[in-house]
Amino acid sequence: MASLSDHDQKSLDTARADTSFFGHPRGLATLFFTEMWERFSYYGMRAILIFYLTSSIAKGGLGFADSKAGAVYGLYTAMVYLMCLGGGWVADRIIGQRRAVLIGGILIACGEFSLLLPSEASFYCGLVLLIAGTGLLKGNVSVIVGQLYAPGDPRRDSGFSIYYMGINIGALISPLICGYVGEWISWRLGFGVAGLGMLIGLVQFLLTSRHLGSAGLHPASTGNAEEDRKSRKSAILSVGAGVAVLALLGALAASGVVEVNANMLSDGLGWCLIGISAVVFVWLLFLGNWTPVERKRSAAILVLFVSSALFWAAFEQAGSSLSLFAERGTDCHLFGYAFPASWFQSVQPIFVIALAPVFGWLWLALRTKEPPSPAKFSLGLLFGGLAFAILIPAASLVVSGQKVAPWWLIGTYFLQTLGELCLSPVGLSAMTKLAPVRLGGFIMGMWFLSTSIGNWLAGKAASLYSSMPLPTLFGSVAAFSIAAAIVLALLIKPTVKMMQGVK
Ligand code: PHE
Repeated sequence: MASLSDHDQKSLDTARADTSFFGHPRGLATLFFTEMWERFSYYGMRAILIFYLTSSIAKGGLGFADSKAGAVYGLYTAMVYLMCLGGGWVADRIIGQRRAVLIGGILIACGEFSLLLPSEASFYCGLVLLIAGTGLLKGNVSVIVGQLYAPGDPRRDSGFSIYYMGINIGALISPLICGYVGEWISWRLGFGVAGLGMLIGLVQFLLTSRHLGSAGLHPASTGNAEEDRKSRKSAILSVGAGVAVLALLGALAASGVVEVNANMLSDGLGWCLIGISAVVFVWLLFLGNWTPVERKRSAAILVLFVSSALFWAAFEQAGSSLSLFAERGTDCHLFGYAFPASWFQSVQPIFVIALAPVFGWLWLALRTKEPPSPAKFSLGLLFGGLAFAILIPAASLVVSGQKVAPWWLIGTYFLQTLGELCLSPVGLSAMTKLAPVRLGGFIMGMWFLSTSIGNWLAGKAASLYSSMPLPTLFGSVAAFSIAAAIVLALLIKPTVKMMQGVK
């Protein structure tokens, strides 16, 4: 962001100077609740998605086979995070973050409400709206959080920790409500409740956005009005062309002229994700006009990028294969009370909220002995793998026809959360510090790209749920993650060297 007008600079300074939200700018509360409600909507919908896809038409679902449901789940969740890349770009070049958040929220609410309608066509339309909306909203809210702090403001890190709590409070309460309504009343009504949550978030955002000052109001500027105008125009044309091509493809597919199915699309997307990543890293490592230090750091980014994708591949199965395990293999009773299988989705956020402060304290207490980021990534992968390893005996019991106690999954989610807390909070900041300065925002997109690949793989795993013996499926995920953890552990020293002094 360059060259704010005097008026904008003043209003930003006033917003930053405020301390009325736990010592933080009041604008942080606006963003905290916006993202809380957005995550409420996202995770509430996701908690019942795989059940809605696989449950029979008689039971109000879409009656898809596991392989197709897994493909749709992976396609949807991967596209959501991939579009965060596009959403960041649109905000930077055309509309600014604030408008992106607003439009994104509106699209999300419309998307959830389309899912209320009883047709497959409106279901797919809803998913497209959700993908576009979340892409516009999610990354851009965090960009505005960053803008609320002047460079060097010591409150920045704790601001992001508070914000992370908002994410997890939303993720905690929504499966309880949307899951209850979805599983025990009607799937589609559950999606409606998720949409209602987003509406509340939107109203809250509109009513309190004055506390943000001028943060996120304008697209990035080069300082030259003529150049800005040109770059904006070309960006609008590109977005228009992209939307037109997609609409054309959609129309061709809907009319049956070209035949598409979920599995084909999902495979295509997987190749695209790998292709995009390969192009970016060839550019960072071999082409581009980088200094030797920048190139070495990019090699470290590659190591972290691959590890992150593999970690999320196991982690994001929380809403796919592990949900199927909750529904089909787990006895959903606790202390004599029955509960909906989707309630398991609240377990991870509960552990995050309880343990994040512990981890924060631990890293501080270790001081100079605090492990470097690649070591934390390796630990993250290890916990992610162990989470699936402990489930193998339970999977064997389920294969023999029994239902297992909920404690198995709770243990799995506990270990997954330990992994998340090792990897997720440091991941983005490590990658941002390693990236060439000019690419700060772009690398944020790369972080989302790694999550996207992870989500896509998580869908793939769910596709295999009924065709592969469960202990083999969970065992393979465990083996893969633990092997990756070991390889990364061996790479800690060389990676730290490639980081060239970045902590
Ligand atoms: N719980 C996190 C969130 O919803 C998971 C996540 C991590 C998502 C990284 C995207 C990127 O924000």
